[in-house]
Amino acid sequence: MMLLHGISTMDRGLFITVEGLDGSGKTTQIAKLKGYLEDNGHIVYLTREPGGTPLAERIRDIILDKSSGNVLPLTEFFLYLACRYQHTYEVIKPKLEQNVFVISDRYADSSVAYQGGGRELTRNLVMTFNKVATGGLEPDLTFFIDLTPEEAIKRIEKTGKTKDRLEDQSISFHQRVREGYIELCELFPDRIKRIDGEGSAEEVWEAIRKEYSIFWSNKGVNDHEK
Ligand code: TYD
Repeated sequence: MMLLHGISTMDRGLFITVEGLDGSGKTTQIAKLKGYLEDNGHIVYLTREPGGTPLAERIRDIILDKSSGNVLPLTEFFLYLACRYQHTYEVIKPKLEQNVFVISDRYADSSVAYQGGGRELTRNLVMTFNKVATGGLEPDLTFFIDLTPEEAIKRIEKTGKTKDRLEDQSISFHQRVREGYIELCELFPDRIKRIDGEGSAEEVWEAIRKEYSIFWSNKGVNDHEK
């Protein structure tokens, strides 16, 4: 990355993902992050998983719909992978190549936490298949907004929305998902930043902004040294 008249010139856009339990407040924080990056002169594209393309949005409906019945863990994982492959090649990679900053509400780490941890498919299996579905693409930076499952469920119930098939899982499922995320933070400390999600939206945003600033200034130094 070079700074030219205060505007970044990079050979590709940044890929940022936001992760966490359902109810962790990702949507609010993603909107703030988008505004902040735009104010800093970047073109930002918001997307989500499962979803982000017409086909993947249709698969999303199938995965989350309770009428899909008994969806076996591997079947569930393959559906997320189908979404991921389509999303990566149809949207994320082309956008990044056009120097656009892409923010995705969830990406491959969600499968490690939910299918690997929650559904107990194991981390290694999930990471192996993820590599195929992402073509090896990894986010440059990931924010994991961390909240206890008890607090996350309280927040979902407060919204009054009907829970989808995944949100309707037990507390112990969500506990395993959270543990999956915590393990990922330990494995990839440079990429994944754990953000305490218990505070107010403003407090959480302040923590994200701070981490982003640190990342951005390190990135400038690292790119300069290349
Ligand atoms: P999300 O879009 O966060 O749901 P909402 O719109 O209700 O906030 O995610 C949908 C659900 O899919 C969520 O429960 C997490 C789950 N999920 C997985 O289990 N594995 C995955 O790989 C992904 C991307 C999501």
